[in-house]
Amino acid sequence: MTVARTVSALRLTIGRFRAAGETVALVPTMGALHRGHLALVRQARRRADRVVVSIFVNPTQFAPTEDLASYPRTWDADLAALSPLGVDAIWAPGVAAMYPDGFATAITPGGPALAGLEDKFRPHFFGGVCTVVAKLLLQVQPDIATFGEKDYQQLKVVTAMVRDLNIPVRIVGVPTVREADGLALSSRNAYLSVGERATAPTLQRVLKTCAAALKSGKPFAPTLAKGRAEIEAAGFAVDYLEARHAETLAPISALGNGPVRLLVAAKLGRTRLIDNIGV
Ligand code: PAJ
Repeated sequence: MTVARTVSALRLTIGRFRAAGETVALVPTMGALHRGHLALVRQARRRADRVVVSIFVNPTQFAPTEDLASYPRTWDADLAALSPLGVDAIWAPGVAAMYPDGFATAITPGGPALAGLEDKFRPHFFGGVCTVVAKLLLQVQPDIATFGEKDYQQLKVVTAMVRDLNIPVRIVGVPTVREADGLALSSRNAYLSVGERATAPTLQRVLKTCAAALKSGKPFAPTLAKGRAEIEAAGFAVDYLEARHAETLAPISALGNGPVRLLVAAKLGRTRLIDNIGV
C-alpha cells in the first residue's frame, strides 16, 4: 500500500497502474475510518483493478465555527483498517499540497446544492466539497468513485457536478452502514456522550416510521410534523425533516410525484447528526 503525499508522487503511482492497462477506483474520505467507509472501499474493490483511498480533512468545507480543529484524526488506525482490504494507494496530501499559496479557484454548485437542506445550515459546505472533490477526481483520474448514501445530498451534488463539468468518472452510491440499533455510522458519533448515544437511534427509528406511514398513504405534512415532534421530544434540536424528490431533491408532497427520500438533520447536544431513507 503506497502512501502518496504530493501530486507528483500520486501521478507516478497512478501512471504505473494505467501503463499496465488497469482500471482505478477512488474512495474520497476525511479519515477517522469506520465500517461505512470500508463498505465504500469494498464496493470500489469489486469494480476496479486498483483502489485509491484519499484521506484529507478538507478545511474549505468547514465554517470557522465548525469542528475542523477537533475533527478526529486516526491515521494509524486508518492504515490498519485499509491494509487488509487490498487498497493499492493512499492519497494523503497536506493542506499546502492541496491548497498551495495563491490558490484562487473554486466551484460554486447549484441545483441539488441549493435544495434548502444541508446548504441552509452549512452555506459554505458544498462549495468546499465540490472544489476538493473536483481536485481529487482530476488528481487521481479514476474510472469510478464511491460515495455514501449517508450523505445523500452530497452524493447528488457530486453526481450533478461530474455531469455538468463532463468529468469522465462514474459516481457510485453505496447504502448507509448502520450500528445494530440503527444509528448510521459517522466519524462524529465519537462526540456523543453515553446518554446521547442511547438517544441517537431515534433519528433512524422516526425515519422508518414516517416512511412506512407515507407508503401506506398517509398525508405528507402531518406525518412529517409528527415525526419532527417525536425527534424533538427525544431531546434533539431539529434542523430539518423533509420529504424530497430522491433525484432532484425538490420538495415533494405526494407519492405519485416521483421517488421520495426523507432527509433529517438534528443536533443532540453539540453533535449534529444527519440521516435519510427511501420511501
Ligand atoms: P467523510 O465524512 O469521511 O465520508 C467519506 C465517505 O464515506 C462519504 O462518501 C460518506 O457518505 C461515506 N460514509 C460516511 N458514513 C457512512 C456510512 N455510515 N455508510 C456508508 N457510507 C458512509 O464525506 C466526506 O468525508 C467529505 O465531504 C469528502 C467527500 C471526502 C470531501 O471532503
